[in-house]
Amino acid sequence: MIISKILFSLLTLLTFSVANVLPLSYSYQLQLLDQKNSNANSKYFNLLNYFNNDYNSIKISQIPIKSQKFIPNQISRDDRESWIQEQKTVSFRNILNNIGGSLTNISNPENNGVSVGAVIASPSKVHPDYFYQWTRDAAITMLTICDYLQDDNFQNISLIDLMESYIDNNYYLQRLSNPSGDFDDLSGLGEAKFHVNNTAFMEHWGRPQRDGPALRAITTIKYIDLLNKFNNGEIKTDDKIFNSTADIYNLIIKPDLEYVAKYWNKKSFDLWEEIDSFHFFTSMVQLRSLYSGAQLALKFNDNQFYYYLMENARSLNDFVVFKSGYKQPSLDHLVETPSLYLSNHRSGLDSAIIIASILTHDFDLDVNHLIPFDINDPLILGTLYALISDMKYRYAINHNLISLNLGVGIGRYPEDIYDGTGFAEGNPWFLSTSYAAELFYKIVYSFFNNAEDLRINPANFKFYKENIINFNQESIENDIILPFKSSAFNATVSNLLSYADSFLDVVHSHVSDEGSISEQFDRYSGYMKGASDLTWSYGSLWNAFRWREKVLVLF
Ligand code: NOJ
Ligand code: NOJ
Repeated sequence: MIISKILFSLLTLLTFSVANVLPLSYSYQLQLLDQKNSNANSKYFNLLNYFNNDYNSIKISQIPIKSQKFIPNQISRDDRESWIQEQKTVSFRNILNNIGGSLTNISNPENNGVSVGAVIASPSKVHPDYFYQWTRDAAITMLTICDYLQDDNFQNISLIDLMESYIDNNYYLQRLSNPSGDFDDLSGLGEAKFHVNNTAFMEHWGRPQRDGPALRAITTIKYIDLLNKFNNGEIKTDDKIFNSTADIYNLIIKPDLEYVAKYWNKKSFDLWEEIDSFHFFTSMVQLRSLYSGAQLALKFNDNQFYYYLMENARSLNDFVVFKSGYKQPSLDHLVETPSLYLSNHRSGLDSAIIIASILTHDFDLDVNHLIPFDINDPLILGTLYALISDMKYRYAINHNLISLNLGVGIGRYPEDIYDGTGFAEGNPWFLSTSYAAELFYKIVYSFFNNAEDLRINPANFKFYKENIINFNQESIENDIILPFKSSAFNATVSNLLSYADSFLDVVHSHVSDEGSISEQFDRYSGYMKGASDLTWSYGSLWNAFRWREKVLVLF
């Protein structure tokens, strides 16, 4: 009895000290065996020789790479998985609730009078009144519907019909005279929003907003791509204003592209509808529409228009990268509205930059390589990192997450004071938080897609050190390369995914038990604020889930 007790404590002691010598460094040790992956000619260091060079006297155990920084005091894994399954379905259904003519919308008496194909921003009619169709929200929402149709191999006939109704409806909206102007000189296309029954909104508003036509063109072009891929380029319905993809191109897409080409070098209100200036988000969606539009013009043998669009795309590209001030030599992040940054009114940080990068890039987009600031651009991660670093302190609701290296609630931009109904203090937004998750999923996806090493460099080191890997030193001078699919790569990527998931956990903590989601959540209490059942909130969350699924199957 006594002997077994002694043996037992000896054993405990032994286990304990072994565990102490090797704290969480398992993945790093495996990396040591990964020599064959390192490239002898590389002028950079890979993880192995980096640590060997600098620390060859130090034992492995003192160079810990935490294999999991994610602290399981949040939502348990099972809870998360089952929430995601349910929330994905609920989110999609609630998107459809807000589209006129969809199966669920027709039966919803609240939404009476919504034109078929009209996408309302939210059913909320007072405090705030969001019962309108915004060109921007509608286009982004229908891009999500296109994503669904693509994953579904173009099977869902009622969604196809809904998509064609959206295009049909926009034929009328484009031609509706409104306070931004008319169809004749195309100025009317810059109108931000319309009543749900397709009449013009006549009150004072931040107008024009020149991202709208670009986003609508992006979505409609994407739909034509789907028709080409899955339906021999033929449209599916026969009760619409158009009879062919050529009609869609000529009647609906072309006016939007002409608008973009004509007005990209003119100021307009930003996507948050507050500032009349040049904005990264607006320029970026315009750029994608011009490049994609040019490709489409070629397919329709519209050669002159192709050259016209390409010429404008190149000038706009030049503006975005060099002349606009979106990129500032002194900053490691981009600037959404340079005029505000240069006049010291704003930091320039804005979740619009992340959303722009996401909406203007896709792995299977034919013009992807032409469009700058892809999701893996250092300045995009730099921007998100800076936003996170600001907002984890700015919003009280985030404070308990700070020391845990978990995702936090992200707002529109640091200086925001719009609280969803009035102007007191800004809050975190569901859509900005969901896009943060989506960006991390996509970054991981891009490593696999390009069979690419994970490169930690002086620019992204702080992000990795604070959130993903437990480095001992404060900075690095050379790149650290984690060879593609090495164990260090795998461990790091899995931390990145946990980090992405933790942004979804934030969303999860603040949605209702039924899965309904508004625009914002209170910066102190976390309670939902602003427009209820915001269509864009559902769409952005659904897309984050979509990319999470796509990346998980790669493991
Ligand atoms: C409502 C807009 O949609 C919101 O973005 C903006 O901040 C306020 N109005 C103030 O213009
Ligand atoms: C306010 C947001 O700032 C704007 O981007 C959006 O279009 C409208 N709400 C409608 O959702």
